[in-house]
Amino acid sequence: MFVDPNTLAEFNQPAPRYTSYPTAPEWGPLLPLTYAEKLEAHTDEPLSLYFHIPFCKTMCLYCACSVVLNRKPENESRYVDYLMREIDLVAAHLGSSRRAVQIHFGGGTPTKLSIPLFEKLFTKIASTFEIDFSKEVAIEIDPRTVLEESGAKLHMLKRLGFNRVSFGVQDTDPKVQEAIKRRQSVEMTRECYSLARDLGFNGVNIDLIYGLPHQTQESFRKTVSDILQLRPDRIAMFSYAKVPWLKKHQKAIREETLPTTETKFQIYAEARKAFIEGGYIAIGMDHFALEEDEIVTCLRDKTLGRNFQGYTAKLSKDMLGFGVTAIGSIQDTYVQNIKGLTDYYSAIDRGELPIHLGKVSTPDDLLRKWVIHTLMCTFELDKELFHSTFGTSFDTYFAPLAEKLEALESRGLIHQTSSRIVASELGELFIRLVAMPFDAYIRPEIDQFSRSV
Ligand SMILES: C[S@@+](CC[C@H](N)C(=O)[O-])C[C@H]1O[C@@H](n2cnc3c(N)ncnc32)[C@H](O)[C@@H]1O
Ligand code: SF4
Repeated sequence: MFVDPNTLAEFNQPAPRYTSYPTAPEWGPLLPLTYAEKLEAHTDEPLSLYFHIPFCKTMCLYCACSVVLNRKPENESRYVDYLMREIDLVAAHLGSSRRAVQIHFGGGTPTKLSIPLFEKLFTKIASTFEIDFSKEVAIEIDPRTVLEESGAKLHMLKRLGFNRVSFGVQDTDPKVQEAIKRRQSVEMTRECYSLARDLGFNGVNIDLIYGLPHQTQESFRKTVSDILQLRPDRIAMFSYAKVPWLKKHQKAIREETLPTTETKFQIYAEARKAFIEGGYIAIGMDHFALEEDEIVTCLRDKTLGRNFQGYTAKLSKDMLGFGVTAIGSIQDTYVQNIKGLTDYYSAIDRGELPIHLGKVSTPDDLLRKWVIHTLMCTFELDKELFHSTFGTSFDTYFAPLAEKLEALESRGLIHQTSSRIVASELGELFIRLVAMPFDAYIRPEIDQFSRSV
């Protein structure tokens, strides 16, 4: 797809990724008591659980995740002890309704934990929650951490009942890897992938990032071809989120080594085409999946979910987050745990739920969240469905946006009819921009989001 440079420059503006609405910068202090009340009001609905393990051995320069650099096993063992105490605190408020249909371990690097430590934590989770192992038990894996002792950690994950694994790869070119300080040979990635297949993991994902230093269309073609040869069930191809005001280490990536906006877009467009031609179905803006993957069924029957991990099968309404910085959402409320380890530990020592930020959604927030989420997941809005869901006319409620929507239409991002708003092919690639007019909190004067290309 060709987009002329001026249009691209115009589209390349800061835009939220809408993994939540209202977005995280709009959240404010939230009392542990508020969270406790939400947990106590929880019915027998099944839950999603997210466990954040922040540790990494080294820092990849592009990383925007919540990471704690650590080489001392005792720090990890201390963390797991506190995490287990947090599980007890939350469970005490939940009462007996503790069915879990979706478990996700993220980080940082969960597989940095030793096997005994990981097993200890997982045993605690499995004895506290009633896990449905026929649903999703997933983990993010850094391939550099699981090949020791003939892949003993992967064997452990299989034994514990994990069924989805996601490998961080980002780019297979040694020159790019050198510049991002993440050395991971293609052979290592292949070995890891093959072992996961041999062990029978049926949901394997690979993460890539475009827009990294020294990437060119040609170099990324090789990365795409390396990954297509493996044929994972899913591929997540993220745009490099450059947020140096939040992640200071990103400043070590020299500006002049980054691809231009045009090259970055072309890298994305070409890779997207290659994945689609290679038999993958595009899911939202940055995920691709093989036809057999359940996420494709979700796309088709419009049950695709979007949470802090990106696009997922939506298996439950509520998600509880455990561990430092972890985010959850319960009923109408987002909740985020304390960000620093020391404060996180102190709260748990006081017997408090270790949360500090959150947002109780207003009725207007919930309605806009539905609109934004629907656009991000299905690329269209059905005004009748909006009417039947909220009992109010879409055109009346969003009358003040008419001009902005017309502007999106004249820029070729959407088509409007009396009953629908549908993103064009171009609009699908820039769906963040299509969603933005519906965001009541956008403050263009504050540069707080990564750019849309
Ligand atoms: C927690 S990491 C995955 C597990 C493991 N730590 C690893 O790196 O292999 C989650 C994913 O976030 C993505 N990611 C991290 N920082 C990013 C950034 N600045 N922009 C886009 N994607 C990013 C990477 O694709 C990475 O694989
Ligand atoms: S990308 Fe993964 S391994 Fe690298 S610093 Fe971030 S969380 Fe750690």
